[in-house]
Amino acid sequence: MGCTIIGCGKALPALEVANDDLAKLVETNDEWIVTRTGISSRHIAVDETGTDLAEAAARAALGWSPDGWCEASLAPEDIDLVIAATFTSDALVPSAAGLLRERLGLENAIAFDLNAACTGFVYALTVAETMMAASAAGFPGAAGRNPIRRALVVGSERLTHVTDWADRSTCVLFGDGAGAAVVEWDEARPGILASFILNTTDDTGALSCPHAFDAPVPFDADGVAPALLDGAGNVPYATMPPASHADDAHVAALQEPPLQTVYMDGQKVFKFATEAMTEAIHRVLERSGVALEDVACIVPHQANERIIKYAAKKLGLPLDLFQLSIANVGNTSAASVPMALADAYAAGRIKRGDKVIMVAFGGGFTSGAVLFEA
Ligand code: UT7
Repeated sequence: MGCTIIGCGKALPALEVANDDLAKLVETNDEWIVTRTGISSRHIAVDETGTDLAEAAARAALGWSPDGWCEASLAPEDIDLVIAATFTSDALVPSAAGLLRERLGLENAIAFDLNAACTGFVYALTVAETMMAASAAGFPGAAGRNPIRRALVVGSERLTHVTDWADRSTCVLFGDGAGAAVVEWDEARPGILASFILNTTDDTGALSCPHAFDAPVPFDADGVAPALLDGAGNVPYATMPPASHADDAHVAALQEPPLQTVYMDGQKVFKFATEAMTEAIHRVLERSGVALEDVACIVPHQANERIIKYAAKKLGLPLDLFQLSIANVGNTSAASVPMALADAYAAGRIKRGDKVIMVAFGGGFTSGAVLFEA
């Protein structure tokens, strides 16, 4: 018995931007980008929201559109749980999962977001599986909690909206998209055999993206900021915009536009990525008792084709065991693994009974893998 993937889908924004177009923005060229990353183009969400992309991917996974792979189409009321892995949701509240639940009319589902950067989908699947397993096992107290039988797990990102388009070392890498999987607790199938998720301290700050909800706060360390007080000792917030205190450094700092773009030290992340990927794969093999030679397909995070090639070499595996989907999508963070999984299913690479590993790494640092029987 186990948590089994019964549907999978993906969605991309309409606009596809080739490497040559990026050479109009920064000093770069197609040859450098292709050789160093394996990326030829990426999709950029201009008109699509994150919810639009997640909805299209989810509809494909649920069998509500012909674009995905789906064993059995489910009704809206069948879904008990929605988890959206993202760090670029359309809003902080409602959550991306909540917005998706509403769009799809999943009346019975609880919905929440999870941020583990590019490893988000692997984390989200692990959380969904754990909730389902606890629910099915009826562990002490489980009967008093929400029964979770079927879940929709989505990875959705609009990374190009947190990209510094003047930084050639990052802007050529990122793209937008969404991937989704529908999972069901099945008494007759093993489903997920093992998972492994890990946080490692990123003590050099190699990968980060600050938030942008720094609304002006009329306080300093001692209380109400003296610079903001008017002659009567009040802060005339509603009637006098802080701009009228433009000579005051405190007010000026409050009005700085927040910088919400991804910073990355590529080489440090590259080193972490290759080690994290091989470790996570070894750990799920150990935990499941499955031999590496019995794995039919590995679906890795698509951050850089060279990272995948390096990991294949380190593991002594042929590259064709790995799903390579990066060429026309770039790095889509939490959407990367479920989109690559949808590609693998669409290409007929995963057949019933196959042992498959999904593996990812990302900012935080986070890393992890899930080994499942299809
Ligand atoms: O999903 C989140 C996890 N992220 C990742 O996994 C990313 C991991 N890192 C990488 O994929 C690679 O480190 C990059 C693709 C980001 C960079 O590749 P690299 O082979 O590590 O290049 P580098 O940073 O060592 O830069 C080599 C040269 C530098 O020039 P100099 O100093 O040798 O003159 C860079 O300034 O390439 C230059 N460069 C570029 N040249 C043309 C950096 N970006 C570009 C560019 N076009 N876009």
